[in-house]
Amino acid sequence: MNRGGSLTAEAVALFRAAAGDDPYAPAFLGPTFRRLFDLWRRAPVVGRAFDRAALGLVSSVLARHAWFDAEVVRALEAGAAQLVLLGAGFDARPWRLAHHVGGRPVFLVDHPSTAAARAARAPGAPPIDVRRLDVDFGRDDLATALREGGVDADAPAVVVWEGVSMYLPVAAVRATLTAVRASVGAGSTVLFDAWCSAERGLRARLEGVGRGVVGAMGEPLRWVPTPGEVQQTLDAAGLALQATRRACDVPAYPRAHPAMHLITATT
Ligand SMILES: C[S@@+](CC[C@H](N)C(=O)[O-])C[C@H]1O[C@@H](n2cnc3c(N)ncnc32)[C@H](O)[C@@H]1O
Repeated sequence: MNRGGSLTAEAVALFRAAAGDDPYAPAFLGPTFRRLFDLWRRAPVVGRAFDRAALGLVSSVLARHAWFDAEVVRALEAGAAQLVLLGAGFDARPWRLAHHVGGRPVFLVDHPSTAAARAARAPGAPPIDVRRLDVDFGRDDLATALREGGVDADAPAVVVWEGVSMYLPVAAVRATLTAVRASVGAGSTVLFDAWCSAERGLRARLEGVGRGVVGAMGEPLRWVPTPGEVQQTLDAAGLALQATRRACDVPAYPRAHPAMHLITATT
């Protein structure tokens, strides 16, 4: 992780800002990403070309965010009493969905370096009951951090773990899902994405190049399971798989990469 916070978190905020999907995203961008945002806005063709060259990476990020938005709203309406964003990065969802979140507590859990960067740039309005929890998923005891941070283990929650699992070793993925299971009430919804690559040939080699680029940003891809391994990981954590959808099947995002799987599980 970079000392100034996650570069991939800033990159996905850039994608949302450039797409016009998130009015709060531009304020989260540091000087370098702000310059890229200005260029992208002036010349949208640059963004489209980048998405193509990156095998639909931008579309994948936008698709998962739109899909999880809908799932979060659905879970809140079904009675979730708290919202937990694991690896929150510069996700402005609590503010964008303030009308749905209402007075529920929102727990923004992230690596300390990214959490610090976000705290310096987060929007102040609309007012949300936001609580910051600094946790390194690879080292810290997440269940303890959630409990001490005020997450209610007896209340249903909606937990979003977006754009994070692929950066962690399998042991940390298992530990995180197990800790989530132990930390929230019955009837909770757990949403996360996994980069499931079963592809071979040229496309797999191109993916390898893409992984090299992400790795050069200080966050190499580590967990690349098959769909069967996702199921096994959920089983081991005591979570029930409800649905898996590929990002490219989310309406309006056919360019998204088929390897990105969007997972809905419940406690
Ligand atoms: C691609 S960003 C996604 C951010 C946000 N969920 C979103 O979709 O906008 C990856 C996030 O995972 C967090 N992360 C990566 N490794 C982590 C770790 N070991 N512990 C805690 N957070 C981690 C980063 O700080 C960053 O916020």
